[in-house]
Order: sequence, then structure tokens, then C-alpha cells
Amino acid sequence: MNEVLEVPEVRTVEGEAGMAEVIRSRRTIHDFREEPAPVELARKALDLARWAPNHHLTEPWRFYLLGRETASAIARLNAEIVTAKSGPDAGAAKLDRWSRIPGWIVVTCANTEDPLRSREDYAACCCAIHNFSLYLWGEGVGVKWTTGAVTRDPRFYDLVWIDPEAETVVGLVWYGYPAEVPNPARRPLEEVSVSLP
Ligand SMILES: Cc1cc2nc3c(=O)[nH]c(=O)nc-3n(C[C@H](O)[C@H](O)[C@H](O)COP(=O)(O)O)c2cc1C
Repeated sequence: MNEVLEVPEVRTVEGEAGMAEVIRSRRTIHDFREEPAPVELARKALDLARWAPNHHLTEPWRFYLLGRETASAIARLNAEIVTAKSGPDAGAAKLDRWSRIPGWIVVTCANTEDPLRSREDYAACCCAIHNFSLYLWGEGVGVKWTTGAVTRDPRFYDLVWIDPEAETVVGLVWYGYPAEVPNPARRPLEEVSVSLP
């Protein structure tokens, strides 16, 4: 039986406004400043990531904090893939861009043969990534969650020491101080919601 904790004090209006502001203002960051965010901050964010909801408490997530060597190897692999598809100039441009990305993690989901559990575990991992992103955003650090072709390449799994029989990549997630914050729109709530009697 899980320990039952007391519900914490009701948040102040300021607290709620702060949370809403973090959620609403968070953006996917495509351009980072070069100086890296402290890795301790990323570790704290991962520590919070694992408090995401997960059905049956499967805790399906695995987190890989990449160092420069691994990040560079992935950037080179990606350049190779881009070169094969779009030519050497495109590959070189990608390599240059990816070489300047300051913080790298990979999130995977433990594989299971049960299709319902697989779906729910993937959902839980997505929640974990969002916990990671929202906490960092509140600390002034931006995130980009990517699922590009490189993340499905068997060589990517080798570089990150992931056994593809055991885990599936949910995202390559970059973090760092934003150089620019984009401003994408959302459709109004009325267009995407239905109120039932
Ligand atoms: C599962 C998932 C995969 C994503 N993969 C990519 C990607 O490969 N490349 C990319 O530019 N953005 C990717 N994104 C980011 C989305 O493009 C981004 O969330 C969307 O444009 C909305 O912008 P916002 O996050 O600033 O609201 C991904 C987001 C999710 C949830």
C-alpha cells in the first residue's frame, strides 16, 4: 500500500498564476545560446520528470544524459543521413547547427508486448518529457523535443547504448538558454472542445 501524503496547502493565486504562465509561455526552442545550462539543472528536471503519471506505476522511462562525445557522434550520424537525402551542403549545414546545441538527453520507453500497456507507457513518457520541459522553462531554460529520422536509426541506438529489443526512443531532447523564442499560435479553445450537458 502506498503511503498517503496530506494534500499540500491550497496554492495562492500568485502560485497558480505562476504555473499558468509557465505552461502558456513555454515554447519549443530551435536556437540556443552557446553557453550550456548547468547539468545539475537538467538532473533536477529529470528527477521531476519521473514524477509524471504512469498507469500501474510501470515507470517506463529511461533517461540518458549525453556528454559532448556522444552528442558529436550523433551530430555526425545525422549529417550523414541528411547528406544521403539532401546532399553534402545540407549535411554540412546540419552538422554545424547540431554541433552548437548545448545540452542533450535521450528519453526512451521500456518495450512491452502488451499493446495497451505500450500505448499507456508511451503516454507516460511524454508526460515525463513535458515535466522536464516545464520545470526547465520555469528556470529560464528552453527545450526542443525531436523525433527526426536519426532517432530511429539503429546506429543511434548503438551510440546511446540502447538495446532496441528492450527500449524505444521517445525523443532526443535538447536544452539550453534560448537565443530566440518563437511564437506559434493555438486554435481557440472553442474550436477544439465540446461541453456536454
Ligand atoms: C512528439 C513530438 C515530436 C516532435 N518532434 C519535433 C521534430 O522532430 N522537429 C521539430 O522541429 N519539432 C518537433 N517537435 C516540437 C513541435 O514541433 C512543437 O511542439 C510545435 O511546433 C509547437 O510549438 P511549441 O512547442 O512552441 O508550442 C515535436 C513535438 C512533439 C510533442
